[in-house]
Amino acid sequence: MAHTPEQTQQPAAVQDPLTNPLCRRLGIRWPVYGLAHSIEVAAAISNAGGLGVYAAARDGPDELAGKLRDLRRLCPDRPVGVDLLLPTALPGAVDADTVAAAVPEVHKAFIDRLFARFEVPPATQGNFFSQYVRSQALFEEQVEAVAQSNVEVFAAGVGTPAGTLARVRKAGKTTMALVGAARHAQKAIEAGVDILVAQGYDAGGHTGPIGTFTLVPQIIAAAQGRPVLAAGGVGTGAQIAASLAMGAQGAWLGTLWLGTSEQQLAGPLADKLIAAGSEDTVITRAHSGKPCRVVRSAFSDAWEEPGAPAPLEMPYQQALTGRLLAAVEQHAVAPLMYEAAGQSVAWVREVEPVATVMHRLVQQTREALAALRPYLEARSA
Ligand SMILES: Cc1cc2nc3c(=O)[nH]c(=O)nc-3n(C[C@H](O)[C@H](O)[C@H](O)COP(=O)(O)O)c2cc1C
Repeated sequence: MAHTPEQTQQPAAVQDPLTNPLCRRLGIRWPVYGLAHSIEVAAAISNAGGLGVYAAARDGPDELAGKLRDLRRLCPDRPVGVDLLLPTALPGAVDADTVAAAVPEVHKAFIDRLFARFEVPPATQGNFFSQYVRSQALFEEQVEAVAQSNVEVFAAGVGTPAGTLARVRKAGKTTMALVGAARHAQKAIEAGVDILVAQGYDAGGHTGPIGTFTLVPQIIAAAQGRPVLAAGGVGTGAQIAASLAMGAQGAWLGTLWLGTSEQQLAGPLADKLIAAGSEDTVITRAHSGKPCRVVRSAFSDAWEEPGAPAPLEMPYQQALTGRLLAAVEQHAVAPLMYEAAGQSVAWVREVEPVATVMHRLVQQTREALAALRPYLEARSA
């Protein structure tokens, strides 16, 4: 059956079995949550009936305030969220020169060799990592920009500092935390979080060692009644139905939105993601210093070669690689281009609008739930 994207946007008053208690609490229609580094994608997810969460970790504080105003302009009538990475074990306040000075010469030489080997011209434009260093001082400014914005939801990606959650809750926001183990859930609960996102090993981005299917029931058991979302490797409605069957109140997806037209990925990176299967993602510390699942590239491969130095800890690794990756992005140096991507990259197969993807997910979820009906009906032998 052919569907138009508009069909997903029914009036909120219509009672739909997929609109569960957490959807009602948040004011959304479908139990589909999406994280994206693009305000256009995040807004489109919310406008299509899910909850779009803008990943703002790569924005400086001033830029962030403007982005959140634009996000609201793109999505004036539906709830939206914003996500920050807030690792707690980072330096208090540090400038880029101090961090750069602490980077070993052997690492700088390694990056210089990658410039030469892949004939990467120098960057003439900066990116976040060539301008900022992740530090507690930067996080505080980012959190303040979030607290002063009018987005409804705040999600903490890595780390759940209690002071941060208290600050954004005081500003009236519903809080979420991404967790990869029951002990992380415990910390997030102690910090006062409202909703937990159980993000498994399959996921794109920073990830722990426990697979999604194994993790979700453990987080539900640890959640003390709080709603839990399932994340990591989800690319179909059947997996959303499975998440609901496990007791989650929805699924949180990242990679699938990379293939949407609103994301505006083009050229070699888009081709790489569309061609990639689940086996083409790798977990590497070369991206940020913490284990992070990315689509495999000559960049991740280079760090595995004999004689390559071990990646540095966060924030030194991104201070080291910032100038190379800014240049790679600017000049579209195909072999070195990569993005965080989960095993769900297998379902990024063409470029489509967010509303089309959302509609397919909702339809597939309904079909998967309907297919379970025979298990509930008494049958004579
Ligand atoms: C490109 C990309 C960037 C991500 N960046 C962040 C981030 O900044 N903050 C965060 O909390 N999670 C981030 N994640 C993880 C997502 O929030 C989500 O948990 C994950 O994508 C779920 O697995 P999936 O990629 O298989 O859908 C990112 C994921 C991807 C694919």
